[in-house]
Amino acid sequence: MTNLKILNSINQLKKMDRSFDIIHSAMLRFFMCLFKLVTVLKIGLVLLFTIGSSLISLSQSPNTAFPAGRERISINHNWKFMRYDSLPDQLSYDIRPEIKDRNDDKVADSKPTEALHVSSSGQVLKPWILPAANAFIKDPTKHHKRPAGNPGSDFPFVQQNFNDSNWEEVDLPHDWAIKGPFYDGPNPEVGGGMGRLPSHGVAWYRKKLAIPLADKGNNIFLDIDGAMSYAIVWLNGKLLGGWPYGYNSFRLNLTPYLNYGGDNQLAIRVDNPNHSARWYPGGGIYRNVWLEKVNPVHVAHWGTFVRTTKVSASSATIELDVEIENNSTFDQSVEVVSSVYQSDVSFKPTGKAIAQFSKSLVTVTPGEKQKIAKSTTISNPLLWGPPPAQKPNLYVAVTQIYIGGKRVDEYKTEFGIRSLQFDPEKGMMVNGKHVRLQGVNQHHDLGALGAAFNTRAAERQLEILQELGCNAIRLSHNPPAPELLALTDRMGFLVINEIFDSWERKKTPHDFHLIFPDWYEADTRSFIRRDRNHPSVIAWSFGNEVGEQYTADTGAAIARNLASIVKEEDPTRPATASMNYAKPEMPFPATMDIISLNYQGEGIRDAPAYAHLKGIRTSPLYPAFHQKFPDKMIISSETASALSTRGTYIFPVTNGNSAPVSDSTGGDPVNQFVSAYELYTAPFGASPDKVFASQDKHPFVSGEFVWSGWDYLGEPTPYYSARSSYCGIIDLAGFKKDRFYLYQSRWRPGLPMVHILPHWNWPGRIGQVTPVHIFTSGDEVELFLNGRSLGKKKKATYEYRLRWDEVEYEPGQLKAVAYKNGKAWAEEIIKTTGDGFSLRAKADRCQLTSDDDLSFITVEVLDEQGNVVPTASNQIEFGLEGPGEIVATDNGDPADLVAFISTKRAAYCGLALAIVKSKKGALGAFNVTIASKGLKGTKVEVSRK
Ligand code: GAL
Repeated sequence: MTNLKILNSINQLKKMDRSFDIIHSAMLRFFMCLFKLVTVLKIGLVLLFTIGSSLISLSQSPNTAFPAGRERISINHNWKFMRYDSLPDQLSYDIRPEIKDRNDDKVADSKPTEALHVSSSGQVLKPWILPAANAFIKDPTKHHKRPAGNPGSDFPFVQQNFNDSNWEEVDLPHDWAIKGPFYDGPNPEVGGGMGRLPSHGVAWYRKKLAIPLADKGNNIFLDIDGAMSYAIVWLNGKLLGGWPYGYNSFRLNLTPYLNYGGDNQLAIRVDNPNHSARWYPGGGIYRNVWLEKVNPVHVAHWGTFVRTTKVSASSATIELDVEIENNSTFDQSVEVVSSVYQSDVSFKPTGKAIAQFSKSLVTVTPGEKQKIAKSTTISNPLLWGPPPAQKPNLYVAVTQIYIGGKRVDEYKTEFGIRSLQFDPEKGMMVNGKHVRLQGVNQHHDLGALGAAFNTRAAERQLEILQELGCNAIRLSHNPPAPELLALTDRMGFLVINEIFDSWERKKTPHDFHLIFPDWYEADTRSFIRRDRNHPSVIAWSFGNEVGEQYTADTGAAIARNLASIVKEEDPTRPATASMNYAKPEMPFPATMDIISLNYQGEGIRDAPAYAHLKGIRTSPLYPAFHQKFPDKMIISSETASALSTRGTYIFPVTNGNSAPVSDSTGGDPVNQFVSAYELYTAPFGASPDKVFASQDKHPFVSGEFVWSGWDYLGEPTPYYSARSSYCGIIDLAGFKKDRFYLYQSRWRPGLPMVHILPHWNWPGRIGQVTPVHIFTSGDEVELFLNGRSLGKKKKATYEYRLRWDEVEYEPGQLKAVAYKNGKAWAEEIIKTTGDGFSLRAKADRCQLTSDDDLSFITVEVLDEQGNVVPTASNQIEFGLEGPGEIVATDNGDPADLVAFISTKRAAYCGLALAIVKSKKGALGAFNVTIASKGLKGTKVEVSRK
């Protein structure tokens, strides 16, 4: 028993032991599990912590890779380009109405017609592009939703591995059409209206972007300053969006689709319809393109707005709105500081800050924007105003954003301090001082360089306008390159910035009216947000001679809507649209802050010489508008439309002081010339003399914007087989027409000058009446022919030229002696010249400072005595020795259809032009050789520092 008991006890113990074992192993397993769990949890926690903290570090201690805050990188170089010469692909924005009316030589003031509507069949890309407008559509319920899908993703040109090696290599800004050739002859593919150049068609641009890994975490945007037109952008096969209106700048966010630490394929399709404009639009990515790299927390796109108020010589208040955008995934507490500096001509802050805006601390939630409004006062401001009486002084506001003490962004806003008043009686007041508007209209092309923007070429246009005495520019009829406004700021021009030539009603079958309903709001808001800080911009124009002038209340309602959008975006400047038809009692003008009249002020078709013409006819309407709108300033936003070919005179000369050009008077249909007596005009136009008289009779009118400052490509009224306009004061090459001196005599009364026309080389006219007209800033002139006085004449009231209409031609010398207030004032002598003997060349600059810099070389044909031969048309050949390039040549004759890229160019009326630059990246000197058969040649040395 005992043994049994012992055995039992042993067994029990064993059992116990087993159960202990079981318990033990169970416990062991439990603890193991617990340990594993803890480990997993620990790893999880560590992971969580790490992810969390890296997320936090992404958002809260932002990438400081860009100490200056943001990087703006030009990506203009080395693009691959292909324009279809056969049927293009189907990746279109939308379908367009068929062209039924190919006639492009309608009189410019013809009534615009109702739009044709077509609805799309098949797939078009419009629904994927429209969301790009959302940032500029106020009502969120009207925002566009991107449909599912990614059209074009399988198209070869958007693929990284597509072989584009046989595509052309181009740099931007690029205008594919300017090299020509011009379409010649009747029924051209592209007519004279659009410059007879191949700007139409579909083309692709491709570029690889290497994005370093270090950029991860930042936002990277693509900024396109202008692409003509209907741009659609793919990145790495993803359709990102686009922008149809070729004149507006736009931004697309590349950030989510980039391959960091590798190559990225950008592919941009542009589609430029024929019959889309009344002038030359250019084709392609014709402005600058940028990559902008910023911290996810940054000053938003076009996110500052400066206003200057209470401006006096002793003090000014500066109001600054800054919009902060938070594209991170966390709330961000940011500190915003802004200071004001004086700015040098290249907009760089100089010296110490002269004023500070108080610091702001704000929290911006993810995906949101927040606006901060601040103001500060500065004493003794250097005001911005137009020369010569005022100076265009500039300032720059530097805004910095800090998070946790680290600077994450720095943004510069250039501005000027000035006050503007639009006084219905006194006219334009800048800083309390009256400034008569001596303005011109300018289209966007740069002559032989086409639409491709070039800062030096634009600056040259402005310099010659300033020499003319011009102080104001209307940017007809579309937003400019941003750099142009930087120039007008720096040079002190007053600018009317204009956006549309058509709304719902059409002027040409494929113009903006096709997209007006979808895009007017986004285009208008983005246009103003981009340009609202420029001191040179004095007013916004949201339309030119639109068809809605004719549609009573319906048209006025559209105008009111556009005006209200303008005012929401910028309450500080007047909103206007130019009217050539709307009359004071119609509802349209009542929607305007200032009254902008095209031709109506001085009267349309109202002089005897215009009596036979059909079309709009009005007496001078300045008084009627003034009476109806006594509280609104009147601007003549288009005047004259006088026409001429430089240096070309046609006889007989009209006795009147303004006449419409026709084949039998003032015009030469065979050679497509218009006489430069500067008395002939478009059918609705008026000579400068007639406009001056009308303006002087109505001193409450604030001034005029002449149509046009420079000749431009397209719209060659009255000869549509030509390539460029006749209405410029300055020809397409930049040479001065006689009209230049007529405007200069009025606009620079203090400049002693006298100018004689025509030239005095008329071997076939000996003994024939050859009128001599004289423009002077003096008030009296005595004219001598071969030493004999032809009498003294004094300007009568409302007379702006002195005419000797009975002069019989004899070779020799004409001399004009001008007087002002009885005192000798200026003198000019012109001579009958001999034949061409030699060439003289003058470069406007011999030292180039960058790859984009240009030298404009004027070539003159001289006789043996060194006089310019005013009738010379010698064939000139340009050559180049060394690291330079001849970009284009021209002579200013609207009827010359030799392609601009030709190095052979006939002189026109004694002059020719070559535009040269250095070879990309090449420093040193090069020679431009200028030769012509039978003439002594010359050369010019140009060098690149
Ligand atoms: C105006 C028009 C301008 C231009 C001009 C030509 O009616 O607004 O764009 O066409 O005529 O003379």
